[in-house]
Amino acid sequence: MNILLFGPPGAGKGTQSAFLVEKHGMVHLSTGDLFRSAIKNSTPLGLEAKKYSEKGQLVPDSITIGLVEEKIKDLKKTSFILDGFPRTVPQAEALETLLKTNQLKLDKAIFLVTPNDMLMSRLTGRRVCEDCGTTYHIETMPPGPGNTCTNCGGNRVIQRKDDFPEVIRTRLEAYEKNTAPLKEYYKAKGKLVEVKGTGEVKEVYERLKSAIS
Ligand code: AP5
Repeated sequence: MNILLFGPPGAGKGTQSAFLVEKHGMVHLSTGDLFRSAIKNSTPLGLEAKKYSEKGQLVPDSITIGLVEEKIKDLKKTSFILDGFPRTVPQAEALETLLKTNQLKLDKAIFLVTPNDMLMSRLTGRRVCEDCGTTYHIETMPPGPGNTCTNCGGNRVIQRKDDFPEVIRTRLEAYEKNTAPLKEYYKAKGKLVEVKGTGEVKEVYERLKSAIS
């Protein structure tokens, strides 16, 4: 089963992908993670992506599609989750071509339905381990004492630069303008499945499990 997991920033895409990877052995391709890793390593791609992502803007399609083109070949042997790509209709069209070229198929586009008023508090409260990527929330899933990571033991659990209110507002606007239209796009293709993204993390996971079974 190959799926796209999409929804607004803070819908829980990364959190749920981690479950799907752990429990179903799926491969997770997240353009957000790829950009953050490139930024951390100051690669040419990272330096370019940083100009946009830290302001909450989308990285241009040409750069993002080029990045996915390089990675998609690695998805041949196992079920995959696309998280954060596609994020625009031109990216979705490019994805179709890339999948066809690589004899791959997207089975479902799963939209995580999460009300807007929940997104700001989920994002401002999010903390992430810089070393292993584990995600926390200061209220619902706090890190260890002194902002330590309970997964890898590191002490670099931080707030993402794009998780401050001003930048979050820009990201939400970019989502409404560019990504929300993907719902209609995948509905027309008969691939859209809506899953409620509210409630306990594990409840959402149970719903997702039913959606992909
Ligand atoms: P990206 O990293 O993809 O950011 P995003 O889509 O905005 O998504 P987030 O990672 O913020 O949220 P999420 O849905 O994964 O939520 P999470 O599970 O962490 O992209 C970052 C940037 O990179 C973009 O702004 C752009 O610049 C660039 N970029 C990436 N892809 C691109 C593309 N294709 N084209 C152009 N540019 C691109 O959860 C959030 C918080 O909520 C956590 O603290 C979590 O613990 C908590 N939480 C989750 N579920 C629950 C629950 N059920 N109950 C309570 N709390 C919960």
